[in-house]
Amino acid sequence: MLREVEKNEGNPFAKYIEYVEDDEVLGHLTYSLIYDRMEIDNICVEEPYRNKGIGTKLMSYLISLAIEYHVVNITLEVRLSNEIARHLYKKFGFREVALRKFYYGDEDGILMEKQVM
Ligand SMILES: CC(C)(COP(=O)(O)OP(=O)(O)OC[C@H]1O[C@@H](n2cnc3c(N)ncnc32)[C@H](O)[C@@H]1OP(=O)(O)O)[C@@H](O)C(=O)NCCC(=O)NCCS
Repeated sequence: MLREVEKNEGNPFAKYIEYVEDDEVLGHLTYSLIYDRMEIDNICVEEPYRNKGIGTKLMSYLISLAIEYHVVNITLEVRLSNEIARHLYKKFGFREVALRKFYYGDEDGILMEKQVM
C-alpha cells in the first residue's frame, strides 16, 4: 500500500510517500513540491525488498501526483555510479541534463529532469 505521510520537519515544501506491507515500511520517497515544480530528494527501498517493483510503484505514484498538481517538471540528482536508480528514472522519462562535477564530494552527480506538462 502506498500512503502520503505528513512529516514537515520545518520545511513546508517537503512531502513524503511510503510503501507499506503488513504495517512495515519497505520503501519511501521524499520530495519537495515548490509551486509548479517537484524535486525528488530521496527514494529508498529496504535492501531485501529491492528489485521487486517497489521503487517503480513509488515513482508511478509521484508522477500521478505531479499530473494532479499540474507540475511543470520534476528534477533530481543521482550519483553517476547508481545505475539502478538511473535506469529507474529513465524508465519514467527522465533525461540526463547536466553533469555536476564532484557534487557528492567523491563522485559526480547527474541532474535529471522530466517534463510533466
Ligand atoms: C534505487 C531504488 C530505490 C530502486 O528501487 P527498487 O524497488 O529496487 O526498484 P524496482 O524494482 O522498481 O526497479 C529496479 C529496476 O532496476 C533494474 N536493475 C536492476 N539491477 C540493475 C543494474 N545493475 N543496472 C541497471 N538496472 C538494474 C531492474 O531490472 C528494474 O528495472 P525494470 O523495471 O525495467 O525491470 C533502490 O535500489 C534503492 O533503494 N537503492 C538505494 C538508495 C538509492 O540509491 N536511491 C536513489 C538515490 S538518487
